[in-house]
Amino acid sequence: MAIQRIVICGGGVMGRGIAQLIAATGTEVTLVDLTDEILKKSIELLSEEMDAEIEKWGLTLSEKKAILARIKGTTKLEEVCDVPIIIEAIPEEEERKKRLLKELGELCSPETIIVSNTSTLSITELASVTNRSDRVVGVHFLHPVTKIPLVEIIRGLRTSQRTYDLVKEFCEEQLNKTAVSVYEYPGYVTTRIIVPFMNEAMHVLMEGIATAEDIDTAMKLGYGFHMGPLALADVMGLDVVMKWMENLLEELSEHKYNPCPLLRKLVRAGHLGKKTKLGFFIYNEEGNKIGENPEIKLRGFIPPPEK
Ligand code: NAI
Repeated sequence: MAIQRIVICGGGVMGRGIAQLIAATGTEVTLVDLTDEILKKSIELLSEEMDAEIEKWGLTLSEKKAILARIKGTTKLEEVCDVPIIIEAIPEEEERKKRLLKELGELCSPETIIVSNTSTLSITELASVTNRSDRVVGVHFLHPVTKIPLVEIIRGLRTSQRTYDLVKEFCEEQLNKTAVSVYEYPGYVTTRIIVPFMNEAMHVLMEGIATAEDIDTAMKLGYGFHMGPLALADVMGLDVVMKWMENLLEELSEHKYNPCPLLRKLVRAGHLGKKTKLGFFIYNEEGNKIGENPEIKLRGFIPPPEK
């Protein structure tokens, strides 16, 4: 049975993408965020993102209009909670997510399924603060949501089979995604594997072994990735990637998740990747990559003079 109405908490990079994906299937979407200003900005950004898709012939103007007409924004969670599925896509901070999930448990109807888009946190832990841990499940959409054909569906230890089946059907039948099933553990499959990969690329850059452009080219052409690890980190958001590393480090105590010092420096400087126009690369107003970050100087060897 098709879901007619859905609520998404958090209108950031992922919330916008999930809203677009779901609204494109004819479902009404309510986007909830903290302030009206954030919501306005979020809808503006979504509109610009769809304009970029129209330019590349990936979407038509009438599809864009229909999608936007189905997305409404609000700050009043308590007024919109009566839906079959509610998805949270707020920042990757455990305490913040727990506060929201607890509130959702209190506000939503008993039947509502709560979905978290967390990339690294334990679904069992998040579900433990709600009054319905059998109806809490992880659905890990990847960025860019409308383009990536995969979702990971993560069962917490208490997620019921019925909840899992309903959400899997929603993702596969309605959203047309391929779903892989993941058993409870932070990082799941995709984040757990991609994070050390990006971290290692940052170390290779920091050690002066190759330029950012050459590292990405090597991995794209050498191993068939469609995007290099440094550009990928920029697109995901360097603050978000660093938070994933910190969460995995805390949970798994493995040095490979310790954020590369270069990543820490960029995040502290507010260079968060594509969304701030500067990360490992520089981006223009349209979000296209136009060069390497000039502040990252390659510390390679100077070749000896010819004899
Ligand atoms: P973001 O920082 O771009 O957006 C988060 C949004 O949530 C902001 O608009 C913020 O104002 C809003 N927010 C904060 N607290 C809220 C609350 N209590 N109620 C409603 N809205 C609230 O974050 P992003 O990148 O969209 O990430 C969201 C989630 O998706 C995180 O759990 C992240 O790990 C996950 N994720 C991110 C991916 C990425 O590539 N950026 C990929 C896959 C998952």
